[in-house]
Amino acid sequence: MAACRICNNHYQEFISFGQMPIANGFLLPENFEQEYYFEMKVGFCTHCSMVQLLEQPDRELMFHEDYAFFSSLSQGQTIHFEKLANRLIKDYLCETDPFAVEIGSNDGIMLQNLAAAGIRHLGVEPSENVAEIARGKGINTICSFFDEELATRIIEQHGHADTISSANVICHIPYIHSVLAGVKKLLKQEGVFIFEDPYLGDIVEKVSYDQIYDEHVFYFSATSVKNMIAQHDLELFDVEHLDVHGGSMRYFIARRGSHQVTEKVRTLLANEKALGLELHETYQQLRRNIEHSRDQLVEILEKVKLEQGSPVVAYGATSKSTTVLNYCGIGPELIDFISDTTPIKQNKFSPGMHIPVKSPEDLEKKQPDYILLFAWNHMQEIMNKEAQYNARNGKWIVYVPEVKVI
Ligand code: SAH
Ligand code: TYD
Repeated sequence: MAACRICNNHYQEFISFGQMPIANGFLLPENFEQEYYFEMKVGFCTHCSMVQLLEQPDRELMFHEDYAFFSSLSQGQTIHFEKLANRLIKDYLCETDPFAVEIGSNDGIMLQNLAAAGIRHLGVEPSENVAEIARGKGINTICSFFDEELATRIIEQHGHADTISSANVICHIPYIHSVLAGVKKLLKQEGVFIFEDPYLGDIVEKVSYDQIYDEHVFYFSATSVKNMIAQHDLELFDVEHLDVHGGSMRYFIARRGSHQVTEKVRTLLANEKALGLELHETYQQLRRNIEHSRDQLVEILEKVKLEQGSPVVAYGATSKSTTVLNYCGIGPELIDFISDTTPIKQNKFSPGMHIPVKSPEDLEKKQPDYILLFAWNHMQEIMNKEAQYNARNGKWIVYVPEVKVI
C-alpha cells in the first residue's frame, strides 16, 4: 500500500520488476560494486486512474552533469520537434513578442527552432551537460528543476508565458502538483500547456513494458491527466496521438473554460473506458502479458545463442533496455554487446547486467546473424540505416508488440 501522488488515496502494486538499477546509469567496472538498486514496483490507483511507480530514486541520481540521453541524436526526433515548434509558432506564438518556456529542454532539440525564428524563449533543464550543449547553440537555458518556486522566478525575470511545452519530462516528475501549480502561475490568462509522454493505452495494448523504468514515475492516460489537472482548475482541451517513443499522447491544457474542448478529447476518454484503463483487472492482465513476453524472449535468446551458438548483438543501449535486461535476467552470456551511437555510453557497461556497450563500427565488424532490437521505437530510421544487414538476410529479434524473429 502507498499513497497516490495525485489524489492521496491508497493504491496497490500490480507488478514488481524486482531490483532495478538506474536506467541510464551506464558504468565502468570499478563502479559495479557501488551500483544503486531499488525495487521497481508499479501500481494503479482505482480512485484517479493513475498508474505510477511506488518508489523512485532521488532525482539527482538520474539527472546530473553526466546525463546520458541526448535528444538530438535521433534524426526522427529532430524532425518531430521541428514540426512541433512550427505548430507552436503558427497557433500559439503569433501575438507581439511572445514568450515560450520548455520544461526539460535537453540539448535544445525543440527550442533551436524557436531561437532560429527569433522568438523569446527559455529552456529549463537540470542536467548540466545537455543544458550546456543547448547554450552552445544560442538557446537561453536555465539549469534547474522546474517547480512552483522556479516558475515564480521565471515570472520575475521574463514575465508570463504564452506556451509551456514539455516532451518526455512531465511523466518523470513525482512532485507533479508543484509543477502544475507553477505552470498555472506562469501561463498568461489564455496561455497553453502542451506536453507529450508515452501513452498508457499503447503500453497496455503493445505490452511495451520497457517504457517502465526509474525516470518514468507516471504512465499517463487522458483519464488520469484530466483527473490530475482538475485539482488545479486546468482543463484538457485537445489531444493528439503520436507515433514517437512507441506511441505517445500530446495533451493540450489551459485554464478551465478558456479554450473550447474538442470532440477528440471526448472520443479518447470513451476509448479509454472501452479499453478498461480505469479497471484494476486490466493491470492484472497486463502483468500476465508481461510475464509471458519475458518468458518468450528468454526462450528465443537461449535457443539462438546457447543452442545454435550464434552471436547476438543488441541495437540501442536505451533506458528501456535496462528494464528488459534486468527483469528477464539477460546478461553477457546471451548478448555479446550492445551497439549504440551515443559516445558517452560506448566502452561502458549496461546498468545491472553489465553487458558491454560498443559503437556501431563494432557491430559492422561483428556481422552477427541476429540483432535484438532495443531501440524499436526508431524502427523506421534503423531499418533505413541497416539496409545492408537486411540485404544479407540478417535477423531481428523484436519483442513489441510480440516476441518474434523477423
Ligand atoms: N524533451 C526532450 C528530453 C527528454 S529526457 C526530448 O523529448 O527528447 C527528460 C529530460 O527532462 C532530461 O533532460 C532531464 O534532465 C529533464 N528533467 C527531469 N526532471 C526535470 C524537471 N523537474 N524540470 C525540468 N526538466 C527535468
Ligand atoms: P531512445 O529509444 O530514444 O530512448 P530511451 O533511452 O528513452 O529508451 O534511445 C535511443 C538509443 O538508441 C540511444 O542511446 C541512441 C541509440 N540509437 C542507435 O544506437 N542507433 C540508431 O540508429 C538510433 C535511432 C538510436
